[in-house]
Amino acid sequence: MSENKKAEKITAVKGMNDILPADAPLWELFENTVHSVLKSYGFQKIVTPIVEDTALFKRAIGAVTDIVEKEMYSFTDSMNGDALTLRPEGTAGVVRAVIEHNLVYEGPKRVWYKGPMFRHERPQRGRYRQFFQVGAEAVGFAGPDIDAELIMLCRRLWDDLGLEHIRLELNSIGDAAERGRHRVDLIAYFEANLELLDLEAKNRLHANPLRILDTKNPAMQDLVNKAPKLLDYLEAESIAHFEGVKRILDHNNVPYTVNPRLVRGLDYYNRTVFEWVTDALGAQGTVCAGGRYDPLIESFGGKPTPAVGFAMGIERLIELMKMAGEPADPSTCDVYMVHQGEAAQMQAFVLAERIRDAGLDVVLHCAAASGAGSFKNQMKKADASGAAFAVIIGEDEIANHVVNVKAMRAAGGGQQQATVPFDEAVDHLVDQIIGGHDHDHDHVHYHH
Ligand code: HAM
Repeated sequence: MSENKKAEKITAVKGMNDILPADAPLWELFENTVHSVLKSYGFQKIVTPIVEDTALFKRAIGAVTDIVEKEMYSFTDSMNGDALTLRPEGTAGVVRAVIEHNLVYEGPKRVWYKGPMFRHERPQRGRYRQFFQVGAEAVGFAGPDIDAELIMLCRRLWDDLGLEHIRLELNSIGDAAERGRHRVDLIAYFEANLELLDLEAKNRLHANPLRILDTKNPAMQDLVNKAPKLLDYLEAESIAHFEGVKRILDHNNVPYTVNPRLVRGLDYYNRTVFEWVTDALGAQGTVCAGGRYDPLIESFGGKPTPAVGFAMGIERLIELMKMAGEPADPSTCDVYMVHQGEAAQMQAFVLAERIRDAGLDVVLHCAAASGAGSFKNQMKKADASGAAFAVIIGEDEIANHVVNVKAMRAAGGGQQQATVPFDEAVDHLVDQIIGGHDHDHDHVHYHH
């Protein structure tokens, strides 16, 4: 770098966020909670690549959808000319993997995934170009029971996260034949009201009229509310499936609203679709969405395999957690090691490894650009780390083969300090932090 020229700063790509350490405790709390909820329902993790063939998304999500028409990060691999895309969602990749590895060979599978998704949308609150989803897919299950189970899994997650006021919207969009009959009437209805359609609706009228029901245009709400309802076109089997889902939800006290206009923005769905929505986040209030996609696997050349799933937007849920004031432990370690002088530093390294061997988290003070830091400076760092204890080793401690253990968060604001023989330091810390019985405290002298 030239010494006279100021280096030019490079910033993150628009709509793609850094998740900074200050937010890490909340993300970890979310991740740990969702992992344990998924595990408690028997879901296993699956990891698929972030990059897939562009054709996979075009066929799975549908050519006439916002995602495929205008939001995909598609590019040509300059090495071999392959048409590739950064995944805009996770279901297509899971379906590909299920077929490619014959995953349902031994029967139905419950899988889940987590990771970044990419959509070139206009960034705003709760809507980003890179965002994180946790998704779950139940593959090989045909009945309404699994639909209800997935919904109840979500409810458990909201409860465990302490999130309230997330309401459930539910609909059935039937099967292809039912949608076909509805479509004829829907197109006729919109054609009879052509002057009330906006440009986007006109463009979609013959390609994907169902999506017109999804419009956010206030001028079209009345028109759309009066449009033929897909629910009225369902036949016995689809009705029985939908009733089955509702019966289990009712029996388990899961409140929901049937929203006949809920059609979802991806084309692979059939029958049950649902969204979990909150009013607390402004325009981007859907925190989780999903539904059934029974024909998708067969349409990709797999053997006919019904499936259902959902995905949740992690950023949106993190924002809700922040608003709920969910306290996440911000501490980085159990023990912060403070040391002065070279001999003390050597001892500190040895002791820190032993404390870690015992299962505790240790931050060992390391030199900054400004140097190793005074005792006072190191104690400030110990305090900021959130550690329960500081272990202090200076020249006196080295000479006496002891360490000083200082309780940083003693009840009542008191700051207890104990002098502990070097060889007993690990036991002492384990005893203090994890708790223990029948430990010999004879050598330990606390003073205020
Ligand atoms: P989706 O409705 O496109 O469905 O996305 C699911 C969730 O991801 C949304 O409800 C929202 O919380 C979050 N999300 C979507 N786009 C953004 C964005 N630009 N910024 C922030 N968050 C966003 C799917 O992706 C389907 N694959 C769900 C599914 C799984 N259906 C069946 N299985």
